[in-house]
Amino acid sequence: MLTAYDYPTARLFDDAGVDALLVGDSLGMVVLGYPDTTHVTLDQMIHHVAAVGRARPKALLIGDLSIGTYPDPETAVTNARRLVEAGAEAVKLEGGLRQAAKVKAIVDAGIPVCGHLGMLPQRVLEEGGYKKKGKTPEQSAAILEGALALAEAGAFAIVLESVVPSAAEWITARVPIPTIGIGCGEHTCDGEVSVATDLIGTFPWFVPPFAKPEANLAPQITAAAAAYCKRVQSVPIQHR
Ligand code: KIV
Ligand code: NA
Repeated sequence: MLTAYDYPTARLFDDAGVDALLVGDSLGMVVLGYPDTTHVTLDQMIHHVAAVGRARPKALLIGDLSIGTYPDPETAVTNARRLVEAGAEAVKLEGGLRQAAKVKAIVDAGIPVCGHLGMLPQRVLEEGGYKKKGKTPEQSAAILEGALALAEAGAFAIVLESVVPSAAEWITARVPIPTIGIGCGEHTCDGEVSVATDLIGTFPWFVPPFAKPEANLAPQITAAAAAYCKRVQSVPIQHR
């Protein structure tokens, strides 16, 4: 799974054969320039889900329910429907036990739901930063409890974020649905997800320690703009 936030990136990634494209609320940071995902609105999610949807990807198109858009089952269903109307084929939300009833309501409405456990970016302000999860047996057991509740509620997969590798493996072995890891080490979960800009190197100002870039496009983009400036500014004097 890779994140995508716009039409061209969605097309290019889809051509590579990724299984799923996530329009993540990480777009708040890597596209919209906010400090974290707590500023993202449902209208912004809809705007970007629609752009990715116009790429008509073969990949499963998952849209994040942004912060505050799933306070109760009824509101969760209403807002999940809005993402689906924009082009999402599934939605993702953060949290475990507290979200089970909402997951069940969305699934009952016919919309597939992906869970998200471990580090929950929508709670980064309460947590005081991005911290590793599953460091103790108690923490791991709590994540597993949440994962089992999500599976029971009908979720089709669960993103595990920043869970220590041994705990991610332990949880993955005990959950009946696929886990999709980010920042959990390699091959510890059933699948992996990467943030697009981490993969292609277009957000050099913050690169998470676990990112494994396959390209470093930022310098090429700046170099292209610099070459353009140079070419335009070097028009021979007699042509002016
Ligand atoms: O918003 C996002 O990009 C995500 C991934 C990190 C899973 O939720
Ligand atoms: Na997200």
